This record gives sequence, structure tokens and C-alpha cells, in this order.
Amino acid sequence: MNIAQNIAAGLDRILTMEVVRVTERAAVAAARLRGRGDEKAADQVAVDAMRQELNRLAIKGTVVIGEGERDEAPMLYIGEEVGTGKGPAVDIALDPLEGTTICAKNLPNALAVIAIAEKGSLLFAPDVYMDKIAIGPGYPEGLIDIDASPAENLANLAKAKGVGVSDITACILDRPRHAKLIDAVRATGAAIRLIGDGDVAGVIHTTDPDETGIDIYLGTGGAPEGVLAAAALRCIGGQMQGRLILDTPEKVARAEKMGISDPKRVYRAQDMARGDVLFAATGVTDGNLLDGVKFGRTFITTHTIVLRSSSRTVREIKARHQDLDKF
Ligand code: FBP
Repeated sequence: MNIAQNIAAGLDRILTMEVVRVTERAAVAAARLRGRGDEKAADQVAVDAMRQELNRLAIKGTVVIGEGERDEAPMLYIGEEVGTGKGPAVDIALDPLEGTTICAKNLPNALAVIAIAEKGSLLFAPDVYMDKIAIGPGYPEGLIDIDASPAENLANLAKAKGVGVSDITACILDRPRHAKLIDAVRATGAAIRLIGDGDVAGVIHTTDPDETGIDIYLGTGGAPEGVLAAAALRCIGGQMQGRLILDTPEKVARAEKMGISDPKRVYRAQDMARGDVLFAATGVTDGNLLDGVKFGRTFITTHTIVLRSSSRTVREIKARHQDLDKF
């Protein structure tokens, strides 16, 4: 049975709630190591916790976006089978700790993230960079174009929003490779929110500009993170385009091995995450949309968004976990 078939049985609804536990556990584990300056340790505990919880889910899951290739990642590697094996066959994209450096420095917007989709419906993205552009819902299809200049995209967005370009804010990863992009955006008069890391959050933030202050995401980040962000946009709405940066023969060959025959293809959100998709993210550190994990005297509080593409429901779950032995 796939997720579509399960809609009738209501199983996907159960999965929607069950998946929350997976990101909650990973987030709590990582949060215990917030601000300790140890990216690797924080990532490792998040991976362990996410894997343990995933293996309790009634799914026959395959990791398609994970911690890396089998030979470089001992757990949650690409191709690893997860779940109890008794349930729908699904593909999984995950990042137990998106923003390892953010977590290590205890800065905003580190997340534990997962997307679950019908088998065969997530892009197998190699771990290369992806050029990305994204905006939130409510705009005409095709408003943004990855091949247009930043000035054109910003002008079109400002016009559609009914504001001047100087009222638009673009989110961009603070990287030397973005120097030209940053100059081009600033030349238009638009504002930039430079982020140190965490472009899954950066893209998701475009879906609620009133809350986050971000209208558009621009620039290159990880391709796996691109697929995760696309899965979120498929559920919330919004537009995204991404193009893999396959700038060496070795990268082209790696992508080919993963089934990518056109190295220059522009993927829209619906090409990266097709069919029915569930997406969940729990805040590890405090952020613009999600609060980070809070460790109270008698309970732990987590804040999660869980999204379903079939209904476009956006659920926010604030959970108080009192059975502290489980964490
Ligand atoms: P990690 O969680 O693996 O540290 O990734 C953080 C991140 O900022 C992603 O959000 C982003 O897509 C990618 O790294 C950008 O890569 P780079 O740091 O090489 O510019």
C-alpha cells in the first residue's frame, strides 16, 4: 500500500502524528549539546535518536536523502531500510540536525527535519551544491525564474506583493561564493538577511514573511537540503526552483549513477518531491518560526511543524514531555 492508498484507510494521518516523535527525539538529543562547540557530537546523537525512533514507525522505509553514502555514513545512509517493515513502502529524506554549526554555537534556526513520500517520488540528489530560488505561497506560478537576474526576480516579486523593491528581504547564506549575488541584490535596494547556515529554514521562512520578515530565498546550498525544503513547500505552498551544480566530470558521473541524466535540469518543488508528502521539523535552537527545545525542571518542551501535501494542513505541535526517562 502506498500513501495514496492509505488515505482511504486513514493510515497516513496516523503517520502524520507518529512522525512528530521522530523529529522531537532527534531535536531533544541535539539540544542537549547546544552551544558546546562540538558539531560532530551533536549530529551523532541526533542521528542515533532519529534512527531509533524511525525504526519504531510502521513503515517499510528507504532513506533516499540521508547522512551520506553507505561507505561514509554508518547510520541513516542512503539506501538504508528503516521502520518496522510492516506498513507502506515509502522514501525518506532526513536531516537529524540541519545546521550542525548553528547548534554547536547555539544560534537560531537549527532543526531536526524529515520528509516521507510515496516510493519513488523524491529526487535522489547527490551531496553537491544546488542553486536555489524560493518564494512563499500566493503568487502567480512562474513569478520567479532561476535564470533571471536577481534584479528581475526582486522587481517581479515586489510588484506582485504590491510594495517597492526596498520593502523586500532576501535570505542568503553568508558565503564568499555569494559575494556577487549579495552585491546584485543590494544594488536593487532590497534588504538581505544573511544566515550563517541552515537553508532549509531559510526557504521555509519565505512561506510566512509576516512572521519571519523573509520574502525570497536566493543562492546555493546543499542539494539534499534543497529536496527537504522542496518537500516542505509542496505541503505549505510556494514556489522553488533548483539546479544541481555539477561542475566536475566526477560530480556529473555521481549524479548519473543516481539517475540524473540532464545535469542542467531545473527542478521545481513538485519535481523534487512528487506525490503525497509528509514533512516535519522540530526546532533545536530558537528560531523565526519554531522555538527550540526547552529543558524544564519536570518536563521538556518541543515545538514542531508537521505538514501534509494531500490536505495542505500545517500543524504546529507544542509538546510537553514528562516521561523524561525516554529522552
Ligand atoms: P549542516 O547541517 O550539514 O552543517 O549543513 C548546514 C548548511 O548550512 C545547510 O543548511 C546548507 O544547505 C549547507 O550547509 C551549505 O553548505 P556550505 O556550508 O558548504 O556552504
